Amino acid sequence: MASGGIYELVDALVGPPERPPIGTAPQPLRPEQYAIPNPRLIMDDGFGLASSKGKIPVLIPPFHNHIVTAKLNVPAGAKSLQEAQRHLESVLQRLEQQFPPPPSGLGVVVAWGLPYFEHYIPRLGKSSSYFRAGTSYPAYLPVDLMTSKQRGRTVYALQESRTFPSDEPPPGFGPVRLEQNDVAVLLRSDSLDHIMTATNAIFGTGNNQAGSLFKVTSIRRGFTGGAHTGGQGLASKLALAAGIPGADMIPRKSPIFLGFTTTIRDAESSVPVSNFETLPGWTDQWPNGYFKHGTIMPLSHLFQDLVAWYSKIFPTFDARIHAMFRPGVSFAPGTVTADPPEQNEADVLTGVQKYHAYGHNGSMQPVNRLQAQTTGNYGHVYPVNTAITNRGDFATLDNPFHYTSDPAGDHFSDQKAAGLHFLLFAPTTETFNRVRLAMDGEFPDGRRAPFSSRSSGAGLNSVVHTTHRQNFLIPPRSHRSFPLTEFLD
Ligand code: HEM
Repeated sequence: MASGGIYELVDALVGPPERPPIGTAPQPLRPEQYAIPNPRLIMDDGFGLASSKGKIPVLIPPFHNHIVTAKLNVPAGAKSLQEAQRHLESVLQRLEQQFPPPPSGLGVVVAWGLPYFEHYIPRLGKSSSYFRAGTSYPAYLPVDLMTSKQRGRTVYALQESRTFPSDEPPPGFGPVRLEQNDVAVLLRSDSLDHIMTATNAIFGTGNNQAGSLFKVTSIRRGFTGGAHTGGQGLASKLALAAGIPGADMIPRKSPIFLGFTTTIRDAESSVPVSNFETLPGWTDQWPNGYFKHGTIMPLSHLFQDLVAWYSKIFPTFDARIHAMFRPGVSFAPGTVTADPPEQNEADVLTGVQKYHAYGHNGSMQPVNRLQAQTTGNYGHVYPVNTAITNRGDFATLDNPFHYTSDPAGDHFSDQKAAGLHFLLFAPTTETFNRVRLAMDGEFPDGRRAPFSSRSSGAGLNSVVHTTHRQNFLIPPRSHRSFPLTEFLD
């Protein structure tokens, strides 16, 4: 846990990125745990370089991204859980005092899986006697109102993870593992030292550390970016250092292994939209939900086959642009940062008929974007085509994790492999499921692409495959430590 391994090269190879000055006065912390309050925006020249003449706004996320998952080492019961809540919260507050917010300081996001709620927090209503007399906490987990209406039964915003058509494992790989962790902690910073300090504080077992509360099940590590100020990007540098097959074909300026920028500003809303309570009618958390300012985080790990991407299945730049964005578009050779106009479902299906293919990004836009201008519950007007989800994925060389407590079950290897720890923030699990199904060519109205979701026509699916999945609930900052236990009697 204490060693950064190959990821120490991130600091050795690239100095910390320039960030806007944050001033000396302490900044008020945002109620959302997952927000990055001071992101750096650059104008990208299309080739991955920040330039005053650049036309594409791109966000520069924190360099280092780690996730630690765990089961709890706390007996079920009000007293032990409330003690654990105080203990974890005091450690988290100390970290907040020690470091400014991310990206240059430290971001800590504590997210909880269904096993936590099911095992430790008895369902209110079913067993209301578990809750302290006199408290009137009205509901349990956030309810996904739209899906509940469609299905005629209560559907919660946090659901068990599911598999998707393209999750079918390629020969030699086992099925996707649907994980059952109690908790996941996401740590983000430009500084590996900050992340290591936080890892020690939360998972170390000394005095004043919170590690006695957890049995760590996995440590996942990775990085993003590194090229926009010139020089070679981290994806290319680290893949070469690790001897990944196909690493020599990664464009030098690319922030990810597959050669394109994934943090285009216009694919994210700058005003929070992924919160449970923001979009009217999506969940029951407006106006007073306990989980208001929280969100859902689907987490997965995918392998990426660089040889198949760069030389076997998509051997030309145009083939890769078409698979990543949409068939038929063209960009100057060497383009790393592309921002083609939005597509609606009819555009995607017309492309499917004409080219027998769709692009990764294009296929999801009709489902990932608001289809009409929408006024959020806080009064902000979100224009049509605002992205509903916020992505937080990062490249990794883990195989599939940096550490696992179950090497056989997780098919662990210490040989490095190109991959992605994928995560995004969405108001409901169903929002993610719909977007992910669109990536497999299946749309909410039942229309679907007439070819296999693992075929070369299905965006980039034929060169990636998923190994693990789990959905988590991210509470607001105020309820991040052992949520709801304060109501137990
Ligand atoms: C190795 C795997 C992946 C790569 C290399 C990749 C790459 C990209 C790229 C280059 C873009 C366009 C740039 C941008 O919007 O910022 C994009 C957009 C997106 N990707 Fe992926 N992606 C991968 C996996 C996934 C997965 C597993 C999902 C899960 C649903 C996903 C969801 C999205 C979404 C929602 C968008 C934005 C769509 C929109 O514009 O509304 N991606 N991705």
